Amino acid sequence: MAEDAPTTHQPLIDFVSEIAQLTTPDAIHWVDGSAAEYTRLTDELVEAGTLTRLTSPDFPNSFAAFSDPADVARVESRTFICSENERDAGFTNNWVEPGEMRKTLKGVFNGAMRGRTMYVIPFVMGHLEADDPKFGVEITDSAYVVASMRIMARIGTDVLRKIEELAETAPEKAFFVPAVHSVGAPLEPGQQDVPWPCNEDKYIVHFPESREIWSYGSGYGGNALLGKKCYALRIASVMARDEGWLAEHMLILKLTSPQNKSYYVSAAFPSACGKTNLALIDPTLEGWKAETLGDDITWIRPGAEGEFRVVNPEAGYFGVAPGTGWHTNANAMRAIAKGNSIFTNCALTDDGGVWWEGMTEETPSHLIDWQGNDWTPDSETPAAHPNARFCTPIDQTDMLAPEYFEPNGVKLDAILFGGRRKTTVPLVAEARDWNHGIFYGATLSSETTAAAEGAVGTVRRDPMAMLPFIGYDAGDYLKHWVEVSSAAAEDKLPKIFLVNWFRRNREGGFAWPGFAENTRVLKWIVERLEGTGEAVETPIGYTPTQQALDLSGLDVTDEDIEDSIKVDPAEWQQEIPLIEEWLESFGESLPASIAEQLDELKSRVAAT
Ligand code: PEP
Ligand code: NA
Ligand code: MN
Repeated sequence: MAEDAPTTHQPLIDFVSEIAQLTTPDAIHWVDGSAAEYTRLTDELVEAGTLTRLTSPDFPNSFAAFSDPADVARVESRTFICSENERDAGFTNNWVEPGEMRKTLKGVFNGAMRGRTMYVIPFVMGHLEADDPKFGVEITDSAYVVASMRIMARIGTDVLRKIEELAETAPEKAFFVPAVHSVGAPLEPGQQDVPWPCNEDKYIVHFPESREIWSYGSGYGGNALLGKKCYALRIASVMARDEGWLAEHMLILKLTSPQNKSYYVSAAFPSACGKTNLALIDPTLEGWKAETLGDDITWIRPGAEGEFRVVNPEAGYFGVAPGTGWHTNANAMRAIAKGNSIFTNCALTDDGGVWWEGMTEETPSHLIDWQGNDWTPDSETPAAHPNARFCTPIDQTDMLAPEYFEPNGVKLDAILFGGRRKTTVPLVAEARDWNHGIFYGATLSSETTAAAEGAVGTVRRDPMAMLPFIGYDAGDYLKHWVEVSSAAAEDKLPKIFLVNWFRRNREGGFAWPGFAENTRVLKWIVERLEGTGEAVETPIGYTPTQQALDLSGLDVTDEDIEDSIKVDPAEWQQEIPLIEEWLESFGESLPASIAEQLDELKSRVAAT
């Protein structure tokens, strides 16, 4: 094995040998990340029936994959943070004692890759040229994972060379996160494989102290593309705590005003709140320009001049397909139309393309649905799975900001926290200061939609939209947010805003048009950054007056705007006990400064 390894980096050779001994694959393939390799792997996946080559000219060099119907999403109940102490996993995570979990993993991974090829994928999250590049090596027995990882991250020989170079010149920077993945479906000699191997039993395991990831039983994106949620959020959040930065579930948007001044904004939203649409917004106001840097993950690090700098550590989109369409998100559609994409659990069209609900205004008269059945508009089930995905290189985005390629990112000017609330939370509010902004994030909430578990309309708290992704104790995470501000100069700290595009008007309809018209809220936010936007002080922060919002050319009533921007003390009286109950769940580790925010909110609401 050591003779075949295309590296002399001993820690990597040791890691690969150890996993090969445990999982006993038939062959080991070191992934070089080349186009030729991608072609060969996707050819093999077509041959195996895992991928369907799309023949429609609308989807060049693209493929469709169909998962096992029981392997369609992240499995939060099987996701574990195995810190040494249970307390350090906190109330938002599943914890198992690490020794016990290691024993379990040894058992399930034992022989797990029998009959399969083991792929070794060196990868970097962020840029190879970053001051402190964050490496990983994913070992997987899924070629679908290799092909998808090539879209989602920078992988292969260049990464390997950089690790080797740093091992010589700056050994502390050569560290890589060892990430082991198996679909958990070993093959006996002569056994016919299935198109989507997986296992009923699933483990998505993180050892935060040793920065290890072990994923077993699922081939699905968030469980199997280990650079994404497992590394760039869960493990990176722990690295960030220890190293003084933040790993967040946020998009990054660059806004340029008619005066040609640019601002960089990150935004966190729970799922089904329009995060991808905001990341790829087409401004509706004359002279305003939006460019994207990312749609899902933001790493926020202190820069040399007292600023916070942001990078998107990913190289692709792994976006929810249904609801992404030419009329709602043309920028995403244009990126997808350039091809080089892998679609998972979308429907197939008769001309060899893919389709999903919301892609086009007109529904095709016949499709093959994601489960392989004939489908017509009369069918009772959706054609695409609601969590169907497009996996597309981000550099195919026409509106990609050139700064996306800056190895150490750009200065962050504002952070938005948003949720889906029918009542109470106004269209936009600006936090009084950094800690008040953390309070917005800590209490971020969304009403469950029909797609989620539980009763429709139930308010679910999702701190910083990180509920399933905080790799350590949630109270410690808030404390880290409080403390990290000391790394920035006070006048360079990003301003924090709370937004809600979904508030209802007095008739029960949406009070605010949303979608691209959110440009008008972004404009006010920029004006606040510039010190010109007009605001009133309310018990929950600074909110725009009706006059302060640019509503030119917008067909809305004064009543609707009033309903969307108002801060109603009666609604906040009802909200406070819910917030109080939520903050109690953090227990002892809730930082005092966040508890104080609640007291201050109470007294401000009481005083109105
Ligand atoms: C995923 O589930 O793979 C994923 C990317 O998560 P989400 O889109 O829910 O953030
Ligand atoms: Na998901
Ligand atoms: Mn996400």
